[in-house]
Amino acid sequence: MPLLLNAQEPEAIERAAQCLAEGGLVGLPTETVYGLAADADNASAVQRIFEAKDRPADHPLIVHVAAESPRAAIDHYARDVPAFAERLIAGCWPGPLTLILPRRADVGAVAAGGQDSIGLRCPSHPVAQAVLRAAAARGVRGVAAPSANRFGRVSPTTAGHVMDEFTALGEEQLLVLDGGACPVGIESTIVDCTRGHPVLLRPGMLTPARLEAMAGEPLRARDGASPRASGTLESHYAPRAKVRLMDAKQLRAAFQVLGKDAKHIALYARSPIEAARGLPRRRMPDDAAAAAQELFAVLRELDATGVRLIWVETPPDGAEWDGVRDRLARAAA
Ligand code: TXA
Ligand code: MG
Repeated sequence: MPLLLNAQEPEAIERAAQCLAEGGLVGLPTETVYGLAADADNASAVQRIFEAKDRPADHPLIVHVAAESPRAAIDHYARDVPAFAERLIAGCWPGPLTLILPRRADVGAVAAGGQDSIGLRCPSHPVAQAVLRAAAARGVRGVAAPSANRFGRVSPTTAGHVMDEFTALGEEQLLVLDGGACPVGIESTIVDCTRGHPVLLRPGMLTPARLEAMAGEPLRARDGASPRASGTLESHYAPRAKVRLMDAKQLRAAFQVLGKDAKHIALYARSPIEAARGLPRRRMPDDAAAAAQELFAVLRELDATGVRLIWVETPPDGAEWDGVRDRLARAAA
């Protein structure tokens, strides 16, 4: 089992920073999801992230930077920062926003998965920032961290989830910091800043309206020229059980047909739906932020009951639900 440390202990932060400086892996809480972290400038450490996750080497990772010195880190990894990206940084960092910027040719090649760009993010979580700061003091300029799940699986939002993903790794191979449940719950919004105008690659909890107000220009949708991103693959965030999205009317009809034969099904819905007693179910919050915060934990919990199907009520319309809708659509793909 990996080594689990309580992030409230000051020594835990120092140990995690030391582990990163020595080329080790750390399970790191951020405000979005837990990351599987390594020194972004240490090629063999970054290589271990890909191996632990079983992630194809050409899927780029996000590099996390300390809030004290974002300028130095940005200048270390990126060769050009357009004005709209500077405005996004000023308005949204630290926070759940990743920017894809043109990469300096001589840095972060392994973390970038061979792309000539680099994803940068300054997380707001106090534990993530404490570790980034302590690691920076040991010469670590940026920390590469994809979500701490095996490739294609549901992202972890608690330290327990991270432990469950990497049971195969020993104490020497992974140190997990327990910083509690992640407050945002779904991954950062990703904006591509390499094409002269902002392009939304992955929706998150920052609404397009907010991003546009910050960037001072319209946000474009991804297109054929947009880089491939694992978080944007059709089938991703998938539990073992099959996820199916239906509106309340469809759900009611489906349960009516099944009656008591609904044993292998779990339900996650906002609307009152009559279903067999004892059926694993959770009520989806009416508030998008609350739904996002618990989404991945609920999918894991319902999956763990051993059901074959998880039926989920389609989220409401509205930009604040974009991130949740996106993750559920991929879980159902
Ligand atoms: O909230 C988050 O972003 C979390 C926490 C740990 O910070 N991280 C995360 O990492 O979600 P990951 O690897 O699961 O997703 C990173 C996404 C992928 O879709 C990846 O392809 C994209 O970012 N990405 C990273 N660098 C990129 C680049 N240079 N060009 C295009 N896409 C990039
Ligand atoms: Mg991921």
